[in-house]
Amino acid sequence: MIKKAVLPVAGFGTRFLPASKATPKEMLPIIDKPLVQYAVEEAINCGIKEIIFITSPEKHSIKKHFKTNKELELRLLNSGKEGMIEKLNPKKFSEIKFYYINQNEQNGLGHAVLQAESVIGNNSFAVLLPDDLFLSRKSCLEQLIDIYSQTKSSVIAVNEIDLKNIHKYGVIKPGKQNLGAIEIDDIVEKPLAKDAPSNMAVGGRYILNSTIFEHLKSTKSDKSGEIQLTDAIKSLLANEDIYAKVYEGEKFDCGSKEGFVHATISLALRDDSISEKIKKIIQDIV
Ligand code: G1P
Repeated sequence: MIKKAVLPVAGFGTRFLPASKATPKEMLPIIDKPLVQYAVEEAINCGIKEIIFITSPEKHSIKKHFKTNKELELRLLNSGKEGMIEKLNPKKFSEIKFYYINQNEQNGLGHAVLQAESVIGNNSFAVLLPDDLFLSRKSCLEQLIDIYSQTKSSVIAVNEIDLKNIHKYGVIKPGKQNLGAIEIDDIVEKPLAKDAPSNMAVGGRYILNSTIFEHLKSTKSDKSGEIQLTDAIKSLLANEDIYAKVYEGEKFDCGSKEGFVHATISLALRDDSISEKIKKIIQDIV
C-alpha cells in the first residue's frame, strides 16, 4: 500500500512575516502543536512509514522537532512530568524514517515533489501540503487511500467552494462518477472564475503514481516561473485515469491568516481543557 509521503515545506511563508522570519511557518502552532505535525500524524495514522520533507537549509527546526530529544525527556522524567514525554516524542514517530531533502531553488510545488523521486522510486506515494489542515473522523488521506485501493490510480482530494475563491486553487473538470469518486477529465491551475471548469478545488492531499515524475520532468514553468504539480497531473491524464475524491470533513486553509485563526478557534473549542474558557472569551468579545 502507500508507505511513503512527501511534505513540501520549503516555502518562504511570506504571508506570515514577521512570525515566519526565524520560525518556519509550518512550525507555527495551532494551540500547542506545530501545523506540520498535524499532517505528519495524518500520514502516520494511515500507515505511512517514510516521511520525506522537501525543505530548505534554514528550516532546521523542523528536523529538530521530529528528532528524539533524550535530554529533555530525562529532564521531564526527573521533574515528575513523565506524562509529557509521549507528547514530546510520540511513540508512533519512533518507527518512522524521516528524510530531509533541500529544495535549493523555489521553483514551485511540482519542482518540490520532483526532488523526492530518488526516495520514492517506483512506488505510489502520498503528498500532503501541511498548510491545509483537514479535520474529520476518517482523515482526508484515508479517504483517498480507500479510493486508491480500489482503483490503483492517482487520487486527489477536492472540495466544492465558492467561485469567488476558485482562482486560488487547482480546479478539476469532473467526469463520470465511479467507485465513490469522480474521474477527472481535466485539471487547471488557478483559473479565473469565468474560465473555471467547475467549483471543485484541489485540496492539499494527493496520492500519485510514480509515473508522475516523468511528467514533472517535462512540465514547463508557468508564467510565474514555477513548475506546477497541477500541470504535470494534467499531462499524466493523457496516459492514465486519475480520480478526485470529494473530501468529507472540515478543511482549514492555514496558509492564510483567517484560515489559521479559524483553525485555532475550532481546535480550541474541541480541547476539553480550555473549551469552556474559550467559549466564554468569544461570547464576551462578541
Ligand atoms: C497548491 C496547488 C493548488 C492546490 C493548493 C491546495 O497551491 O498548486 O493546485 O489547489 O495547493 O492548497 P498553493 O496553495 O501552494 O498556491
